[in-house]
This record gives sequence, C-alpha cells and structure tokens, in this order.
Amino acid sequence: MDKVIFSGVQPSGNLHIGNYVGALKQWVTMQEGRDAIFCIVDLHTITVPQDPKVLREKILEMTALYIACGIDPEKAHIFVQSENPNHTQLGWILNTITSFGQLERMTQFKEKSQKYGENVGLFDYPVLMAADILLYQTDEVPVGEDQKQHLELARDLAKKFNKQFGEVFKLPIPVIGKEAARVMSLQAPTSKMSKSDVNQLGTVYLLDSEDQIREKIKKAVTDSQTHISKDRGSEGLSNLLTIYSAFKNQTLTDSYNQLEGKSYGEFKTLLADLVVLDLSQIKKKYEEIRGNEEYLNQILDGGRDFAIEKSNETMQKVLDALGLGRTA
Ligand code: TRP
Repeated sequence: MDKVIFSGVQPSGNLHIGNYVGALKQWVTMQEGRDAIFCIVDLHTITVPQDPKVLREKILEMTALYIACGIDPEKAHIFVQSENPNHTQLGWILNTITSFGQLERMTQFKEKSQKYGENVGLFDYPVLMAADILLYQTDEVPVGEDQKQHLELARDLAKKFNKQFGEVFKLPIPVIGKEAARVMSLQAPTSKMSKSDVNQLGTVYLLDSEDQIREKIKKAVTDSQTHISKDRGSEGLSNLLTIYSAFKNQTLTDSYNQLEGKSYGEFKTLLADLVVLDLSQIKKKYEEIRGNEEYLNQILDGGRDFAIEKSNETMQKVLDALGLGRTA
C-alpha cells in the first residue's frame, strides 16, 4: 500500500515564497507515488480572530493556489477540515489523554497567546492537529521546523493511546525540509518570512505583481560588501541565496560556486528574474482556475467524501477501543 502523507495549511493571510519553498514545493514532489492528503485547517485558523467573510473566501483561494503551485487534484486529496466532523470528535477524545504540562510547553501557544490573547482553543490547538494526522493512519507529515514540537505531541499521544487501549494509531514521522526550508524576511533576515509581517517589503507573496517582486528583491537587506564571496556574507545575503537555490532546484553550494564574484546588484536581478518567471506561471494558472468555482467545489467535495470515508475507519476503532456509543 502507498504511504500516506498528510499536511495542513491555515486559510489565513496570503501565501508567500516561504510557504512555497518550505512546504508547497515539497508537497508537489511528495504527492508522487504516495497517498497524499492536504487539509485546509479552518478550525485551527479561528483560534485567533478572523473575519468570517474573508475566511470563506480564503478556502477557495487556497485550493486554487495549491493547484496552481502543482498539487495535482487527480493524485492528491484536498479537503476542508471543518467538513469532516471526525477531526473535532477525535480531538475531544485525545484531550482526555493529554496533560496540561504537555501543552504548556508548546512555544507556538506562548507566542500566539502573547500576541492575540489566550483562549482554550489556542491552548488545545496541538491536540486537534494530532487528531488531523492520526485519523488517516499517516506515515509522513511534511511540515516546517516550527511544527516539529506539535508532531512530537502527536506521536506521544498515539503511543499513549495505543498502550492504554490497544494498537489503533500509526506513529507519524515528521519530514522537515532541509536547507531550502527556512526563508527569512527580506527586511529583517533574522526572523521568518511571515504572512503577518508589518513591513510589506519583507515578504514576497505568490500573487504579487512583477513590479512588486522586483522592488522587494531590489530593496532586500544585504550588508556592506559589494560582491558575492564564499567566506563571508550576512544573513540577508545568505537568505537571498537560499531563495535562489530553492527556485533553481539546486544546492546552496552550487549557487555559491555559480555566483561567486558577481555583484550584489547583478545577483539581485538574476534572482528577481527567476522568481518572476516561476510566480508568473503560478499566477497565470491561479487566475485561470480561481474563477471556475464549480471545478474547485468539485475537488473539495471529492476530498471531503474521501476524508470522511477514510477517517471513519480509524474513528470506529477508537470508539470501539474506548467503549463509546453502541456496537456498530
Ligand atoms: N499547525 C500547522 C501550521 O500552522 C497547520 C496544521 C494543522 C497541520 N493541522 C496539521 C500541519 C496537520 C500538518 C499536519 O503550519
């Protein structure tokens, strides 16, 4: 049987090249020869304040963008989390084997509760994420480095459940992208490129215009040197080289070898050309399919039906193991 891969993305903000390089590109490669499931995790998104109208809109936007980036709806399943009630049901059940201490340690909770104020959903976020993954007997979960801690919790909960109630869950393995995984802000290269950066010059969005992309790359922070050299280079420059390597599908070492001696100005133009070329293709495809809501809804309907059917198998085992409900 093919390996199951599962990942999720929140339908909030706008996707940027950090998401593309760190997650989407990897998903596109991984969908080959595997049973790939991609979930639009709207229930996670409401753990911080959202505008309901925008949230709805984002679901179709995300779906279209995934496809524009190369997720093939013939191969992969795309669905919306809130359309499969098994997620909240299993989330509730896993709550009962999760300790406060396990959740208090989560750095994302600390960060987000400081930023947005706390609520129980935000605290419980990693348990719902564990449910997402465990429902599908997932083998591999491609995620960014920042989600590693949540993945460990999912494994711990699966182990604990299996030990206490019998073997029900497969233990998922995190797949964290290597050198291309971390794209930093173009303006503050010590922090991650982010959807919610106040400085809009720091983030290149997938749907930016050519002029916006060129301007952002041109204004990206580097350092007081003028030419690329292997032995020095600031965080800003190495971030640009990371982006270059990811878009070129080559290693950082290859990029240094190829670009050594070039002026920063020349390099930025090469980088902008590369990013513009890729993103203009994505944008073109996106614009073609975003307007075809019937097509997008068909994909999400199929994804939902698949998700419910597949996760029902695990859910029934869980209910049986715990003695919940009546005998099926
Ligand atoms: N927490 C993830 C993020 O913010 C999104 C997510 C929710 C997810 N459920 C998941 C990722 C399950 C992988 C698997 O990036």
